[in-house]
Amino acid sequence: MTARPRALLVLAWASLVANIGIVLTGGIVRLTGSGLGCPTWPRCTDESFVPHGELGVHGVIEFGNRLLTFVVAAVAILTFLAAWRHGRRELLLLALVIGLGVPAQAVIGGITVLTDLNPWIVALHLLVSLAMVSAAVLLIRWVLDGPGPRAGVVHRGFRALAWAIFAAGWGVLYIGTIVTGSGPHAGDADAPRNGLDPRAWSQFHVDLVFLMLGLTIAAVILLHVLHAPARVRRPAYALLGVELAQGVVGFAQYYLGLPIALVALHLLGAALTAAAITWLVVAMRAPAEVATQAKSGSMATATNSSDR
Ligand code: HEM
Repeated sequence: MTARPRALLVLAWASLVANIGIVLTGGIVRLTGSGLGCPTWPRCTDESFVPHGELGVHGVIEFGNRLLTFVVAAVAILTFLAAWRHGRRELLLLALVIGLGVPAQAVIGGITVLTDLNPWIVALHLLVSLAMVSAAVLLIRWVLDGPGPRAGVVHRGFRALAWAIFAAGWGVLYIGTIVTGSGPHAGDADAPRNGLDPRAWSQFHVDLVFLMLGLTIAAVILLHVLHAPARVRRPAYALLGVELAQGVVGFAQYYLGLPIALVALHLLGAALTAAAITWLVVAMRAPAEVATQAKSGSMATATNSSDR
């Protein structure tokens, strides 16, 4: 227990920011048609690891995204080392999972290039990054909560509702990638599309958004009525805010013919949605004493101790 948890907390936040950042830069690669800016992998060209002048701005953009992997990797390694020094097994395992996500993503990114941006692989590449965003949120919560046994701070019924929101949220994220695979932003003029009907899949995407939104509104009302602890109310309000903003961006991009600035904003919203649905479910379990206070009705105390 030598490293200060504060350092680990800072690194866990850095992991979250780095993974959201790479979702955005990966999106910029696709949206600027730079997906094959470096036409091969792991080298940029058959002869060189770095792009040359002929590859133009697309080469620079794609190579820039490859370089960012090293930033994410550096943060992941430092996080793992800090977790190791801190000595909490669950944190170490989680930091390891986050760290292993980096080489996994490097390989999936490579397969993306080698399959000429197959839309199903591009989708997988994004979904793994979103899963890493989720893992970073879990790490932050666990560092904040400290060691020891945990228990539920809200009623089991509410926990089921939050898990339903989580499942609907991942459904929205997954179907969103299918909509993208059917749309115009392939990442390269010659890249294949998945051949599905963009209108029908956008409709399915939005149906799931409404399901998630409805469940989230129900959760916010319930938490308010039940005077639930702030640690659970806060992520629910944040999620509702993200969903509403993301919904506006989603409709705007759909009706405006998918301008790249809005699609990039929608990607940022997707990463924030992944973070918020995870924050909600991980907030429902707290250190045992916080949970006991919450259940016995000492909401003020529970709220204070969970404000960390
Ligand atoms: C909380 C709400 C929402 C979330 C979390 C979400 C998430 C996503 C995700 C993850 C993608 C895939 C991005 C990619 O593969 O690069 C996507 C694509 C898309 N979403 Fe949403 N979305 C939401 C709401 C909406 C709404 C309300 C609409 C309205 C029509 C919409 C329309 C689209 C369209 C058209 C695409 C394809 C963009 C493209 O072709 O590049 N989304 N969404």
